[in-house]
Amino acid sequence: MSVHEARRKRLRQQVRATKVDGLLVTNFVNVTYLTGFTGDDSYLLVTHDGVQLVTDMRYTTQLEDECPGLKLQVRSPGEKMLDTTADVIKRAKVDRLGVEASSMTVGLNNALQEKLPKTKLEPTEDLVEGLRAVKDKDEVAAIRLACHHAKRAFEAVRAAVTPTMTESQVAADLEYQARRFGAKGLSFEPIVAVGARSALPHGRPTQLQLAESDFTLVDWGARTGQYVSDLTRMWVTGKISPKFRKIYEVVLQAQLAAIDAIRPGSKCEEVDAVARGIITKAGYGKQFGHGLGHGIGLEVHEAPRLTKQQAVELQSGMVVTVEPGIYFPGWGGIRIEDDVLVTPSGHEVLTDVPKQLDDCLLS
Ligand code: GLY
Ligand code: MN
Ligand code: MN
Repeated sequence: MSVHEARRKRLRQQVRATKVDGLLVTNFVNVTYLTGFTGDDSYLLVTHDGVQLVTDMRYTTQLEDECPGLKLQVRSPGEKMLDTTADVIKRAKVDRLGVEASSMTVGLNNALQEKLPKTKLEPTEDLVEGLRAVKDKDEVAAIRLACHHAKRAFEAVRAAVTPTMTESQVAADLEYQARRFGAKGLSFEPIVAVGARSALPHGRPTQLQLAESDFTLVDWGARTGQYVSDLTRMWVTGKISPKFRKIYEVVLQAQLAAIDAIRPGSKCEEVDAVARGIITKAGYGKQFGHGLGHGIGLEVHEAPRLTKQQAVELQSGMVVTVEPGIYFPGWGGIRIEDDVLVTPSGHEVLTDVPKQLDDCLLS
């Protein structure tokens, strides 16, 4: 059985447990996960005993290559996706059809319901996303490689960076170097934020030069094949001020302690609380305004979420970021982010970019 067939088999167990006769997968990332098909604009119908991809002519050659044997319904030019999808569902004789609430649009849901008055459309949550949270060996290998490419790109940029470079130039160089080392590109538009701008946890690169402040936050990741990495490091271009030193040490301590708490059976909220506790005790609780981390895989943000009120237990095979941060509007922010695999006996940090305070100094 292929890896994708095995995933669909696991999905069918979820479909059964949800008491629907099939699931219409409209999230294209979920379609990729279930089939290996890397194109867009295609829906997958998974029923108890069958599977069919609704696609179009642009992808037929790619589909033969990426998922040989997958049953296709290729809509002809001019034929509407809605009509082809409705026909496929009708022929599959599905009475109760699960739809993916987070990707199904109200428009498509209503139009499909009109075409299929006898079929009951049932919103479902996270059926495929729940499976995606636990990675298999090949997925871990792909994430590992994405971490490696991110590191190579970062090292190359760091070695050549000058104080007159702008945030945008650093961002462009990260992308260029990631591609040079074999990545498909970056996994998201990188955050390169000088001084006070680093207080924006998701700031976009501007024309500000690194020399405009003593420090810069760099948050980047590579996409290798279909999988991603996601890291954050600080660069010090000027002096290390006492405030920077103090906050950096708190963030680093919080991050290391949280990583240490990662093992199968730990609850996501418990791992978040380890970092939050250290930061709060140091007096910066209000300055840590986001969750501790998130799963990575085919997407940069996926299940599980390491935040408050997430009782989900970590399982071997999950890969999560651990990224505490302390932010002061007008002064700046300090965040350190690594990617961590949950292993049967604990965890393994997949990103090995140095992060002691001295490592932040650009010489
Ligand atoms: N780069 C986005 C994040 O760290 O979540
Ligand atoms: Mn990040
Ligand atoms: Mn992240």
